[in-house]
Amino acid sequence: MSKVKIAVLVSGGGTNLQALIDAERDGIIYSGEIAAVISDNPGAYALERARAVGIAAVCVDRKACADRTDFEAKLSAAIDSAGASVIVLAGFMRILSADFTAKYPERMINIHPSLIPSFCGEGFYGLHVHEAALAYGVKVTGATVHFVNEVPDGGRIIMQRAVDIADGDTPETLQRRVMEQAEWIILPLSVEKVCADMAASK
Ligand code: GRF
Repeated sequence: MSKVKIAVLVSGGGTNLQALIDAERDGIIYSGEIAAVISDNPGAYALERARAVGIAAVCVDRKACADRTDFEAKLSAAIDSAGASVIVLAGFMRILSADFTAKYPERMINIHPSLIPSFCGEGFYGLHVHEAALAYGVKVTGATVHFVNEVPDGGRIIMQRAVDIADGDTPETLQRRVMEQAEWIILPLSVEKVCADMAASK
């Protein structure tokens, strides 16, 4: 059976992308293959991670685009030219328009560093999510992989994993533990599941 092609959209360091690359190497992801890594930021280290293993690394520089419509048109063109049918947002720091998300119903997935519906939606990104969890005083947080629709962090949940909060946690220590104990595990498992389901439905 031919593998489902995956485009991974990134903005920064790309540790979640690395988890996907490692999972493909280790056979945890076997129904799909990463065909391209696309960044909105030319300085993203994630692009280096892709190049290091021979994956096409493409930059669609948001700052060089006239507006969001222009940016999203170029993003779609990059996804199409990679032949990708599954799109993974792995630390992609831009909210996409409803017109854009409607093009990829149940084909675009995102990783969010909390247990949705807690600490999610507009403004909850990066360290802010962990600051909010600590400020509230919850004892358990985690990560969620979900399909992307027009509502930020609002699409159908694919997988979640809980992580305990420790005494003395800072936003930084919590962010790291959520990545190690949840994000880097459930993102590859979810990508495999979505690709396998898609391959089976063809
Ligand atoms: C992760 O915490 C992810 O959940 C969030 O942004 C961070 C990206 O980290 N959306 P990286 O670029 O994958 O290292």
